[in-house]
Amino acid sequence: MKISVIGAGNVGSLAALHIARQDLGEVVLLDIAGALARGKALDLEDACAHLRVPYRIAASDNISCIQDSDIIVITAGFARKPGMTREELFDKNSQILKDLSSAIKKHAPGSIVIVVTNPLDVMTYLVLRYTGFAPAKVLGMGVSLDAARFSNLISQATTVPAQDIEAVVVGTHGEGMLPLPRFTYVKGIALDEFLDDAQVQLLCQKTRERGKEIVSFLGTGSAFFAPSLCIADLVSAIAKDQKRTIGVSTLLRGEYGLKNICIGVPCILGKSGIEKVIELKLNASETAALTQSAESLRALITRIP
Ligand code: LAC
Repeated sequence: MKISVIGAGNVGSLAALHIARQDLGEVVLLDIAGALARGKALDLEDACAHLRVPYRIAASDNISCIQDSDIIVITAGFARKPGMTREELFDKNSQILKDLSSAIKKHAPGSIVIVVTNPLDVMTYLVLRYTGFAPAKVLGMGVSLDAARFSNLISQATTVPAQDIEAVVVGTHGEGMLPLPRFTYVKGIALDEFLDDAQVQLLCQKTRERGKEIVSFLGTGSAFFAPSLCIADLVSAIAKDQKRTIGVSTLLRGEYGLKNICIGVPCILGKSGIEKVIELKLNASETAALTQSAESLRALITRIP
């Protein structure tokens, strides 16, 4: 298995570490910023004795190094600055991902692509369109990160350990993010029964704003510890053919009454990429909220160059 990570910033380099230490395959780290990937790769390799896993991370600033990759993770592009929405990154990042898509199509036509660059759902759609790959082969990492954040915030509010919480978030990884309290379980009890409505609404709002909160403290760049682990989870599910159900941005073709849009929903992931889109039985207000979340993407999709 050859796994290429494009973008050697905090998210990409940490994802490379998690992928390497789980021994998921041969890892290639790529960055157009000269020797950045090289430096990060050497540092990451120095960690391998401590981790007691032998691995090598190849590094390059030349896109042809992704040749024949099985999985490609795209973290390249700009992160938001304090006060920005993810959606405001569209102009800067769409050109970068358009060029990368052409290169991926040329050098790694059989790969499965995991998009991480924001605005996530629109960039996933753009990569799908410009690679021309089958919808099962292009997915976006977003709502699994949002679900991790939702779990953590619920855990802090309830003192139930996060591993005993099964959180579900759907919709855009952006302003239209939709944490689902009815489908989120705390030790087997739905969150909307476990806590009162005001508490639930507060946790949903905090989840929606978590990325922005982190950006406001960091000043430059956005979150990377949780995002990089969420990437490794997706790579692992595919590389090991685990058939796990994880929320990802995927092209909908009638599911949830939506078409021709990439948005976050639970999917079964395995060696073929997205093996099944799971359709949760949403009630009327959840369906309306998801539809509204999807509509918010249409305006950006029409601006894809
Ligand atoms: C976040 C960025 C990575 O949610 O979208 O932190």
